[in-house]
Amino acid sequence: MDTRILGAAGPAVSALGLGAMGMSGGYGPLDRAESIATVRAALEARVTLIDTADFYGSGHNELLLAEALRGLERGSYHLSVKFGMLTAPGGAYTGIDGRPEAVKNFLAHSLSRLGTDYVDVYRLARLDPRVPIEDTVGAIKELVEAGYVRHIGLSEVDADTVRRAHAVHPISDLQIEYSLLSRTAEAEILPTLRELGIGMTAYGVLSRGLLSGHWDAGRAIAPGEWRSFDPRFADGNIEHNLALVTALRAVAEDKGCTVAQLAIAWVAAQGAAIVPLIGARTRERLAEAVPAIDVKLTDDDLARIEQAVPFGASRGSLQASEALSQLDLA
Ligand SMILES: NC(=O)c1ccc[n+]([C@@H]2O[C@H](COP(=O)([O-])OP(=O)(O)OC[C@H]3O[C@@H](n4cnc5c(N)ncnc54)[C@H](OP(=O)(O)O)[C@@H]3O)[C@@H](O)[C@H]2O)c1
Repeated sequence: MDTRILGAAGPAVSALGLGAMGMSGGYGPLDRAESIATVRAALEARVTLIDTADFYGSGHNELLLAEALRGLERGSYHLSVKFGMLTAPGGAYTGIDGRPEAVKNFLAHSLSRLGTDYVDVYRLARLDPRVPIEDTVGAIKELVEAGYVRHIGLSEVDADTVRRAHAVHPISDLQIEYSLLSRTAEAEILPTLRELGIGMTAYGVLSRGLLSGHWDAGRAIAPGEWRSFDPRFADGNIEHNLALVTALRAVAEDKGCTVAQLAIAWVAAQGAAIVPLIGARTRERLAEAVPAIDVKLTDDDLARIEQAVPFGASRGSLQASEALSQLDLA
């Protein structure tokens, strides 16, 4: 597994990250033993960046990771942790809290659940409109100085907020949705990250499985799942979007890889400091995703992919903030 540097100040992390969110909800029934086996298989495959949030399953995800990582040398993996989302019992999202005193409280609980004394990258999940980003990042900076946090990241903020945050403390990476079907980051965000020497951890690289090659229009979606409120999966849009996947499949077959691998490789090819997060919940999905980093795309390949899935071709975009506000995080 190659490594990539997130931000001019590091850290060097595996070129793919494992996103653990789906192991605590949002994508159907949970299987704790398989989730733990998947985390361990990822580490064996040298996918050592693991992304989580304190609100994934209201702490469930951090406890699961603590169990999966128990006994391993702490320096052998990187933990990227989001915080700030407020939830009610039952898991419904109720708001965001980026106040400095809340930051410290959130981290204290995360460290306890994760069974560690530091996190590698700590980030506010969404901008708190009542708290200047300078204040939130300033509070994390104090935690860096105290040794509890190694690097500061951001999640789903605009280019101006990235600049303001970076002026307080060097930002390692912005976590944002980026895929062949979600390319809004290209207009302002990516140029800003490149200019400032900030990395990106890209989520949604498979567009919630739509771009995986394993989805079909007839597949049932349980109420409350991510896909149940994603317009890209809605009747009328899904047929159009799956036609794009069919076009992509032809390129993948010529390249000798799967659709999911091609979609992941495309994101990885967009920049040396971009690390795709893989939302694998099973060893089978992980085993498909990991070799994607070895799929090297030529200019011809990129042109064919662009022809198959042109910029802006998908139907039914959903703002990430809108999506999160509808998600039952339990
Ligand atoms: N910062 C943020 O706001 C934010 C938001 C969302 C996610 N994230 C992070 O990004 C991570 C990735 O999640 P995502 O929802 O964005 O993932 P995604 O890659 O868009 O979709 C993941 C889904 O794709 C399906 N899939 C099919 N083939 C796959 C394969 N070979 N490998 C992996 N998945 C495959 C899986 O569904 P099945 O399991 O049903 O097969 C899986 O649940 C999360 O775990 C989280 O850490 C961050």
